[in-house]
Amino acid sequence: MQAWVIGNWKQNPATSHDVDALLSDLLTKVDAKNQAKMPTSNSQCKLMVAPSSIHLAAVSARLANTPIISAAQDVSAHSASTGAYTGDCSAQQVADTGATWTILGHSERRQYHKESHDCLINKMYHAFSQNLGVVFCIGETQEQYDNGQTLDVINEQLSVIKDLLAQQPDITASLSERLIIAYEPVWAIGTGKVPTVTEVSKTHQHIKQTVAGFADIAGAITVLYGGSVNADNADSFASNSMIDGALVGGASLKADSFLAIADAF
Ligand code: G3P
Repeated sequence: MQAWVIGNWKQNPATSHDVDALLSDLLTKVDAKNQAKMPTSNSQCKLMVAPSSIHLAAVSARLANTPIISAAQDVSAHSASTGAYTGDCSAQQVADTGATWTILGHSERRQYHKESHDCLINKMYHAFSQNLGVVFCIGETQEQYDNGQTLDVINEQLSVIKDLLAQQPDITASLSERLIIAYEPVWAIGTGKVPTVTEVSKTHQHIKQTVAGFADIAGAITVLYGGSVNADNADSFASNSMIDGALVGGASLKADSFLAIADAF
């Protein structure tokens, strides 16, 4: 299975100067690893970074013809191209920067922007219509985890995909190439707390089986773990065959820790 390590930069770094510095460091170190034939160059691990929308065009331009893919953190739910939607960026505008993927449904978007089931169907529909791949984030809160509701919450969140496939059956055949699911327990994000590898593995198995049951999808769906992944714990996640990579927040803001995580996969 192709492994992916994706950096979600969220609302970081603060300035375009800092973005440039992070990219320079990343590209220099990836290049050095490739020259030295270090693990990153030999492994199947693909690298992707998702800067904030204001930095996306510059980052996409800088990453063109490099081994690192650029992605958006979101797209507009309202229109795939243009319209009177102040503050939004459309899937077409994202694709026009050279970015080829977008994150959708991150818990911070669900929490702070009240993203609903229907909103996420629209976003996914628009992203796919512009040939963007989608990194779809799901995961339970601490309270839901404590109440043993993880799989129920995940089933509900995954129903976005089921409902989209019902509306747009033509994407079924290529879904496994266009969709990555990131399982991110909300309580593990930025907290230093992580579920056990066994817990993550069981949840990933459930996610893979559930999505496979939605339609006749060719190939297995990639499922990443996200939530306090760092250079020290990446190996343990990477050692499990159900965990196809990581969606990384804080540790993606330093080239060394991001690439150490990539090396683990
Ligand atoms: O999308 C990545 C994320 O929410 C995890 O953040 O900082 O816990 O790695 P972090």
